[in-house]
Amino acid sequence: MDLKQADIDHGLRAIQQAVTTTDLETQRLHWMGKQGLITQAFKTIGRLSVEEKPAVAKQLNEFKSQIIDVLAKQKELVKKIELQKAIDDKIDVTLEPRLLTQGHHHPIHQVIKKLNYFFAQRGFESRSDYNLEIEDEWHNFELLNIPAHHPARSMQDTFYCGEKILRTHVSAAQPRILKNSKLPLSAVVFGRVFRCDTPDATHTPVFHQMECLRIDRHCNFGHLKTIIEDFITFLFGEKLPIRYRASYFPFTEPSVEIDVWMPEKKAWLEILGAGMVHPNVIKNAGHDPSVYRGFAFGVGIERLAMLYFDLDDVRELYNSDLSLLGDCYLWQ
Ligand code: PHE
Repeated sequence: MDLKQADIDHGLRAIQQAVTTTDLETQRLHWMGKQGLITQAFKTIGRLSVEEKPAVAKQLNEFKSQIIDVLAKQKELVKKIELQKAIDDKIDVTLEPRLLTQGHHHPIHQVIKKLNYFFAQRGFESRSDYNLEIEDEWHNFELLNIPAHHPARSMQDTFYCGEKILRTHVSAAQPRILKNSKLPLSAVVFGRVFRCDTPDATHTPVFHQMECLRIDRHCNFGHLKTIIEDFITFLFGEKLPIRYRASYFPFTEPSVEIDVWMPEKKAWLEILGAGMVHPNVIKNAGHDPSVYRGFAFGVGIERLAMLYFDLDDVRELYNSDLSLLGDCYLWQ
């Protein structure tokens, strides 16, 4: 027999370099096939003398099991390599990526963000430091020129909790801001308000408002109109038909309410109350109303969201219906 351990070692390394089933099969036949080196070597044993036979046969069996062992191990490895290759071949890196379905903010929050952006650009500071949902009657009513037993208190049905109340409007932040700020001031406050209302298509007992307050030496109704019309145009991306209705709020004089025309529904929707800040409100906060004047308005955020997303019922915003909310995406 001509086979030496060095030949076998060389052969084992060759087997270990086979990375495809075909390479490995060639290697197997090379050693173990009919004409293979091991098979042929066994055939030569017959020609040996009786004394030589056992040692050579032992040696050959040893070589055979080394080869078989490494062939089996390499087979497992080749299987894995080929599987991985099959997977890799299926991944086409030149394909367009699939669009991920991305979440976004709730429509109410989107409107708030967009308004915040608009007013920040015009120098209005967002005063969430005075954004108190649990208020007292003093700030919610009294300081806003609505004394006890004033009929205007019943305009907004109030939730009472002990000494405190849940604020009925974000205007309750006005006296706090006025008292704690140097004039002139430009502020916006966003927040939730609470009214003992029966829910219907345009009312919920909890809703969101933005309060805007500007106090300066020279501040007039023209400024109020301009900023309101500008923010509506900014929000909706076009000039919408709006109408002013004379109204009454004890804390503004004169007062107006503003409606926006809904072309699809062919109806007006009230979105905000506004007016020139009443001198008593400025006086109550310790400032001189003969020097300072201002405007204020309070916008219903849900109303804006309804208009923007063309919703029929404000309660749709609270139903957590993701197929509806998912379509309500405002920020370009
Ligand atoms: N606070 C009023 C409301 O909730 C709106 C308003 C705010 C009116 C500021 C005038 C000035 O109805």
